[in-house]
Amino acid sequence: MPHARLRVISYAGAMREDLSTRLILDAAAALSAGRLVAFPTETVYGLGADAGDGRAVAAIYEAKGRPSFNPLIAHVADVRDAVALGVFDPRATALAEAFWPGPLTLVVPAARDCAVHELARAGLPTVAVRVPSHPVARALLAAFGRPVVAPSANRSGRVSPTRAEHVAADLGDRVGVILDGGPTEIGVESTVLMCLPGEPVRLLRPGGITREAAEAVLGEAVAERPDAVLAPGMTAQHYAPRAAVRLEAHEVAADEAWLGFGPAAPLGGRGLAHLNLSPTGDLADAAANLFAYLRELDALDPVSIAVAPIPAGGLGEAINDRLRRAAAR
Ligand code: TXA
Ligand code: MG
Repeated sequence: MPHARLRVISYAGAMREDLSTRLILDAAAALSAGRLVAFPTETVYGLGADAGDGRAVAAIYEAKGRPSFNPLIAHVADVRDAVALGVFDPRATALAEAFWPGPLTLVVPAARDCAVHELARAGLPTVAVRVPSHPVARALLAAFGRPVVAPSANRSGRVSPTRAEHVAADLGDRVGVILDGGPTEIGVESTVLMCLPGEPVRLLRPGGITREAAEAVLGEAVAERPDAVLAPGMTAQHYAPRAAVRLEAHEVAADEAWLGFGPAAPLGGRGLAHLNLSPTGDLADAAANLFAYLRELDALDPVSIAVAPIPAGGLGEAINDRLRRAAAR
């Protein structure tokens, strides 16, 4: 295993200090040396590699146990670096200006001299680009100076990590450096929008930017994704915990775990365990808690996780999407 040494760097206490410190430079040097660096973004933790280094990219797929046809997102420090990677039409430019830095990924035609290795693009003629807003991610990208491809830093099929400890538990022996920036703020992945010539803008994955917000910038409706082949990461198994997941539940059995939302208590007692995504019914809180709470309940090995109904609008679309994937098997 080439990346056997694990170094957990606690960065939470240093967030307001100089981010171009030794720790960031060490992590950037690890990327340059072809090693994997896990880092916090505002959505979830990413497992980063030098986007131009095919071996490093391969190490990501190896570490994740992810099917190699699954394309990765290239992360860059600012909008200027992003537009160099692909062909941005006026719609993509408007979305970039409105939401970057932030939890939006744009899939656009790859530039002829695109610096993102083909393996990371899964051989596709397109490239997925994002400018994250998290200060540690931005400091790392600025120090490295080139694109960093990063899927969520979990083993394939497991829930995405929202804390450094999740990364260490899933991938600890496979990653060179883990930058610990504390719990992530948004808690679901970036929204993936595809802007291809002659086609409507398509929503490939709901996430931290709502469909409504994107449509307000575009002045037109966002279309659905065309089919599963264009977004192979969207397989039904992608977000599954080990336990079965029972959706739209109003009651909990003694051998189940309960994942609640809002003030209502479940019928039939409290089950094996009881967590509430947001007792006040706040969807942003629920999104921030979702993956950590699924993990926590899954670790108790319940017969199933019974999940209360979650409202459909706004961030509820992303939350329900993740829950449906978790329930599919
Ligand atoms: O919030 C996020 O986006 C996190 C953080 C770390 O930035 N990253 C993340 O990456 O969720 P990943 O690899 O778990 O998900 C990337 C998604 C997948 O659904 C993948 O199929 C899609 O983006 N994707 C990437 N490149 C694509 C492309 N060229 N065409 C279509 N879909 C693409
Ligand atoms: Mg993922």
